[in-house]
This record gives sequence, C-alpha cells and structure tokens, in this order.
Amino acid sequence: MTRVTRRDFLKNSAGAAAAFSLAGAVNLGLGVRRAVAAAQAGGPAPFQGIVNLKWPLFSQPAMLLPGGKLPVRLKDPVAKITAAQLMATDGKTVDLDPKQLAGDGAFTLPSGATPGVYGLRVHSTLGTGVPIVDEQPRAVAVYPAFKDDFDFIFFADIHFGEHDGVMPDAPITPEIKDYYKMRAKALIEIQKREPEFIVLGGDLHLYPKSYHLGFPESYAFLTHYLRSPLFIVPGNHDTYHMKVKELGGKHVYASEYWDKYYGQRFHSFDYGKLHVSCLNTSDWPEEFIHWGTETTTTGTLLNTGFQREQYDWMKSDIEAATAAGRETVVCCHIPLHNIISGKKLGMPPVKLPGAPEGAVFDLFNKNDVNHVFVGHLHWNDEKVIAEDVQEHMVRNVGGDFLESDAAGFALVHVRGGRITGHDIVELRL
Ligand SMILES: [Fe+2]
Repeated sequence: MTRVTRRDFLKNSAGAAAAFSLAGAVNLGLGVRRAVAAAQAGGPAPFQGIVNLKWPLFSQPAMLLPGGKLPVRLKDPVAKITAAQLMATDGKTVDLDPKQLAGDGAFTLPSGATPGVYGLRVHSTLGTGVPIVDEQPRAVAVYPAFKDDFDFIFFADIHFGEHDGVMPDAPITPEIKDYYKMRAKALIEIQKREPEFIVLGGDLHLYPKSYHLGFPESYAFLTHYLRSPLFIVPGNHDTYHMKVKELGGKHVYASEYWDKYYGQRFHSFDYGKLHVSCLNTSDWPEEFIHWGTETTTTGTLLNTGFQREQYDWMKSDIEAATAAGRETVVCCHIPLHNIISGKKLGMPPVKLPGAPEGAVFDLFNKNDVNHVFVGHLHWNDEKVIAEDVQEHMVRNVGGDFLESDAAGFALVHVRGGRITGHDIVELRL
C-alpha cells in the first residue's frame, strides 16, 4: 500500500473540510439553542443519537488496520443487521458484506481500504421486525499502521450547558458567547496537534437543569471540531438526576441522555502496544447521584465509585492487557486517590456500595499500570497513588475558565509503545 501521511489520514476523516472560526462557534451554539427550542415546541429532536447500535460509536470508535475485523454489536439481542456502510468525508459509502455476519459477527475490511476515520451506518431489524437505521459519525478509524512513537490528547471538564440562560427564551449574554468561543478554541487547538486519538475524561455537561441543552451542544461541538478518533467517559456532572422546576417539574435523568448520545460508560481499546482503559468514576446506584441530596453533595460529587460490574470488567480487561505485553494507561474523571466506594460516609454512617480503593490499587500494582489521567478539580496536579502509579490531574476546558482566565489539555507522549511523559497546553481567549 502507498504510504499515507497523518495529514492524508485526517483528510479522509468526516468533517475534515470544515473551516473553523471563533465567530462560527457562537453561531453553532445559537443554532443548537434554536433546535432545542424547536424540539421543546414539539419539533424533532436536535440529533437522533444512538438507537440500536452498541458498538462501535462516535464516543468509542473501532481502531483497525486495512483487512482488520470489525465486529458490530447491537443493543437488542434478537435484532439482526440487514446492511452496513462506512461513510467517507466526500459522501461516498463503502458497503460491508452482510453475509460476513453469519460467522463470528464481524465484518472484514477490504485489505485495500483507504486509511481514514469513517462514519458508520447500520440498518437493523428489531425482534418485532421494525427496521432501524443507526448513523454514527467517525465510528471506524482505519490506520495505515499502528505507530510505536506518537502523541495522544487527554482533556476533561468542557461543561456544556454552563450557567444561566439555559432556557430557550433566555438572553444570550457576552459571557455565554465567550464560553462557546473558548470551548471551540480548545477543540481547534487539540485537533491542530493531529493527535493519534483523543480521550475526553468527563464533565461534558453541568446540571440536570441544562442537560436538554448541554447534551446537544456537546455533541454538536465535538462532532464539528474534532477529526481524530475520540473516546469519551462520563464525569460526575454527566450522571445526575433531579426534578427540574423550570422544565415543568419533569424529572431529568442524565442516564437517558447519555444512553442516547454517548452509549457505554466504560470501555477500553488498544492502539498498537498501548492499552487504554476508559473508566466511569461516577458509577453509583441512582439514590447516590440524586442531585441536591446530602449523600450526593457531600460524597459522590467529589469522590470516585466503582460498582461490582465495572470492577470485574476492569480487572479482566487490565489483566488481559498485561498478559498481552501491553502497558495500560487509565483515563477517567474523578481522581482515583478519592475512591470512596466500599467506605462508610455521613452520620449516621451509610456504607457506600462497590469496590474499595485497595482492590483497585492492588490490581494496578500487580499489572503494568503506571499512569492515570484525570480531570474534575479544574487544576493541574501530580500524585503518586499506588506503588508505581502516577496520577496526572489536568485542568479544565470549560467551567470556571473565565474566572481563572485559562483552559488546558494534556499532550501525552508515547515512545516505543510506552508512556514517556506529557505536557500541559494552556490557552487563553
Ligand atoms: Fe468539572
């Protein structure tokens, strides 16, 4: 195959042709507001989102080489895929052969497939016979080769739906415009570095009061400005639920929005010799993430929780990576030096469900886990959290940047397939 440069690779990626400006960011934000207002008045939803597709997704793309296997998984266990296509930037589609699904449930990419990041369209039929079409932008990344030396980017806390003015008829203040511009500037600067992939470590949104705006905003901005494969996990602000007075007393659940826009909450992937484990640190039963209640505001707002299912998955996922000779880098939202699942909290004390800190650190110590990237507290920090495990805290992109006058992200260096260091890039409007 002819040599494909990084630039050619991105040229084949959906959205690559868009020209970006910070004024455009305000227009993009205002467009989302209009679409949300129209939906509230009975119009169609701003985005269709995920219907029946489980994987791959925009928020957790498949990473493969030409000729590689592409398993496509559906949410409905009795549903059948009737057709699937890869969608290139120029509007061309490549049909995947449905006959291949009969075997191990995976398509095989043609060995001459052009490297690039493709959208995926999947037609399926539910058990009831109802036909469904799922479309996910940039869900399949075909690389010319996996490199040993490359950079990726970790960022967190972009907080869409921030501040007042989240109701459709609210005035758009200069501050809201600056927030749109700063987020766009950060996304443009992230993409400019042409990272091999990007991990967004949570807090895409803010509070239940603004989820109806925040989720369409995050989806619009991330799909518009980023072209490298993007992996997303939720932060605490992407998990709350509460009754919202301003929305006519409707009980708003982040989980319903997350299922529709971003899908699974923890997942992992391999890029060459490196394994990346993307964890959900706000993994709590609903009673512990009810916004405005005491356990939430004093406990799970600031601290990490892992329930049994995620812990068991994380253990087998990380152990398998070690057995395959891969270093695992963990990317998540709340610092892991704050794990409170398995501990007691409050007065009278409540035992918080889930895996204790010791079990998680023991797993890291026994395996090739040396680096954890987190966000959450909106400043940069370094901490040793277990024997050989360094936690790197990375400042925010949205949130209180107007007060602190900067936003930032981490450019992580991988050399010889292992993490060798990172730089924090800080930005001002
Ligand atoms: Fe945050």
